[in-house]
Amino acid sequence: MSVINDVKQRVDIVEVISDYVPLRKAGRNFKALCPFHSEKNPSFFVFPDQQTWHCFGACNTGGDVFAFIMKKEGVDFGRALPLLAQRAGIVLSEPTEAEKAKDKETERLFGINEVISEYYHHLLLNTTAGERAKSYLNSRGITLETIRKFRLGFSPDDWEAGKDFLINKGYEQKDLVDIGLIIEKEDGGSYDRFRNRLMFPIRDTKGRVIGFGARVLDDSQPKYTNSPQTLLFDKGSNFYGIDKAKDIIRKEDLAIIVEGYMDVLAAHQNGWQNVVASMGIALTEKQVNIFKRLTKNITLALDADMAGEEATLRSGEILARSLDRKVIPVPLWSGLVRCEGMLAAEIKVIPLPSGKDPAEVIIETPKLWQGMVTQALPILEFALEAVVSKVDFNKAEDKSLAIQKLLPLLYEVKDPIRQAQYVQKMAHLLKLDSPTLMAALKKMRVTKSKQLLEVSHSRLSRQLASSPIEEICLALLFQHPEYRDVVQELTPEFFVYTENRELFNKWQQSQSISELKEKLDTNLLEHLNYLLNKTFPPEAQKADRQRELTDCVLRLQERHSRSLEAKKEAILNLERETQGIDAELAKLEEQGIASSQRIREILIKQSKAGRTS
Ligand code: UTP
Ligand code: MN
Repeated sequence: MSVINDVKQRVDIVEVISDYVPLRKAGRNFKALCPFHSEKNPSFFVFPDQQTWHCFGACNTGGDVFAFIMKKEGVDFGRALPLLAQRAGIVLSEPTEAEKAKDKETERLFGINEVISEYYHHLLLNTTAGERAKSYLNSRGITLETIRKFRLGFSPDDWEAGKDFLINKGYEQKDLVDIGLIIEKEDGGSYDRFRNRLMFPIRDTKGRVIGFGARVLDDSQPKYTNSPQTLLFDKGSNFYGIDKAKDIIRKEDLAIIVEGYMDVLAAHQNGWQNVVASMGIALTEKQVNIFKRLTKNITLALDADMAGEEATLRSGEILARSLDRKVIPVPLWSGLVRCEGMLAAEIKVIPLPSGKDPAEVIIETPKLWQGMVTQALPILEFALEAVVSKVDFNKAEDKSLAIQKLLPLLYEVKDPIRQAQYVQKMAHLLKLDSPTLMAALKKMRVTKSKQLLEVSHSRLSRQLASSPIEEICLALLFQHPEYRDVVQELTPEFFVYTENRELFNKWQQSQSISELKEKLDTNLLEHLNYLLNKTFPPEAQKADRQRELTDCVLRLQERHSRSLEAKKEAILNLERETQGIDAELAKLEEQGIASSQRIREILIKQSKAGRTS
C-alpha cells in the first residue's frame, strides 16, 4: 500500500482540523467558522464519514485532509505529506527537497548544542571554575570516565559567558534563543539560561544533543533547570540516556526506566546500560513508542515517594495501553476484517526502599540492585500491594476507589489463568468475593471492546473510501495521452483525493508524461507509476476505452454536484432543526425562563428522539 494511503488511514480529519479550528458538532458532521476567510456564521464543514471538508461560503472549496493542510499551512503536497506522516507515526523513506532543507536547518541547530555542550564539558574538566562541579560529582560517586562518556559539563556563574562564546564562534543570537540557550529580555538584551550549574546534555536516539538538564551544586531550588520545549527538545518524547542504552536494550531485551539524570549515570557506570530516565514525568505514549522497536520487557524503577508511586501506576497503565492493545484492522480480500494485536508487553516494577533513589542503591549496594532487578514485581502485583496498603477497610468508598485503580491493570493481563489468579488475590486482599470482581471486569471488557470496535470500524470505512473512478479516469488519461481533449471540462476540484487532484493538476500543466514526472516528488511519482501500470481487460478496444473515459468524466461531474447537494441538504436539515429549537427557546425566554446551552441540547435530543420513534 502506498504511503499516502497509509497516512490517510491513520489520521482522522476531525482530529487534524480541530487542531486549527474549534469544531462544533452539527449532526453527524462538524462545523466551524471558516479558517480561510472571515465570516460571522459558520459555513465550514467537516464530514467524518467521507473524511472530507468543505467551505460553503466565500471559499466554496474543499477536499481531504491533505488539501486542508496544504491550504492552511500554505505548503505543497510534498511538504504536507511529511507533516501528516509524522502525525500518523509513519516514517517516510525518501525525504522531499523541502524536507531535506529543513533537516539541514535542524542539523545546524543540533550543531550549536553540540558546540556549547563541548564548551561546558571543557570548563568542567579543565578550569578552576569547574572544580566545584567536579568534586560534587566525585562526592556522588561519579567517575571521570562517566563524566567523559556522558559529556557532563559546567555552566559558569556568568550571565553571558555561553552567549559570548557562541556569538564569537559566529552563531546568530536568534538561533540561540530558538534552541533555548539564551533568554531574551523585553529591552532586547539577553542572558544565558544555564548559569553555575552541572550540565547534562540530553541526546535523542540518534545521539544528537536536543537540550540540557542543569543541576544546582547545592540544595537550592529549583534543583534542575531544563531546556524549554523547542524545535529540538520535547521532554515528553525522549528519554535521558536512550542514545547509549538503545542497543543494549535490544540486545538484553529489557529496558529499565528510572526518573533522574543521576540515576542513569549511576546505572551505566555500574554496568546497567539498559537504563534510561523519564526525566521526572509520568510516561507518555510518545516515549513508549521509542521502545516498540527495541523490547517488550520494561521495568520501572521510580522513586519510592508518593509521587513516584502514583507515577508508577499511571506509567504502567500508559505502557500497558500503548504497548499491549494496539489492534490493527487488516482488511482481507473477502471484505472481512481480521484484527492483529501486538505482542503483549511484560511490565514490571522495582519497589525501591523508602527514601532511596536508584542512584543511591546502585552506588552504595550494587549487589542489592542486582537482586532487585531480577526480583522485579509484575506491575499488577506491585499495584495490588501499593493500593491495598492504603485502603481503610471501614470506608466503603476506599474499597471502590481501589477497584477503580486496579481494574484497568487487571484488564490488561492477557493470560486468563493468570488473570483469574489475580482476581482471587485481589478479592482476598480487598475482602470482596471473586464473582463481584469478575463481574466488574467483565463490564469493563464489554465497554473496552466496544471502543475498539468503534475505532477499527471507522478506520476500515476510511480505508474502503478510496476512489476507483478517479483512479480509472487518471489511468486511462495517463496511459493514452491522445484523450486529452475528452477531459477538457474536468477541473482538479472534481477529484476528492489530493494525490489524484495533484496529479491531474500537474498533468494539465505538462505537455507529456515525462514532463509530468519531473514535477513530482517521490510519493506522487509512486502513485503515478501505479496508475501507469494499472491494467485494463485486454479485450477493451480503443472505442471502449474512450467511452469508458467519457463515462468516468461524467460520473466525476455527477458525483461532484451530488456530493455538494447532499452536503448542503444535510446542513439545511440541521439548520431547520435548530431554527425550530431556537424558536422554542425564544418562547421560553419570553416566559422568563433563561435559555442555556444545556436546555438547547436537551431540546435537540428530544427532537431527534421524536424523529426516530
Ligand atoms: P530527582 O530529584 O530524583 O533528580 O528528579 P536526580 O537527577 O535523581 O537528582 P539527585 O539524585 O537529587 O541529585 C528526577 C528527575 O526529575 C527531573 C529531572 O529530570 C530529574 O533528573 N526534575 C527534577 C526536573 O526536571 N526539575 C526539578 O526541579 C527536579
Ligand atoms: Mn535522585
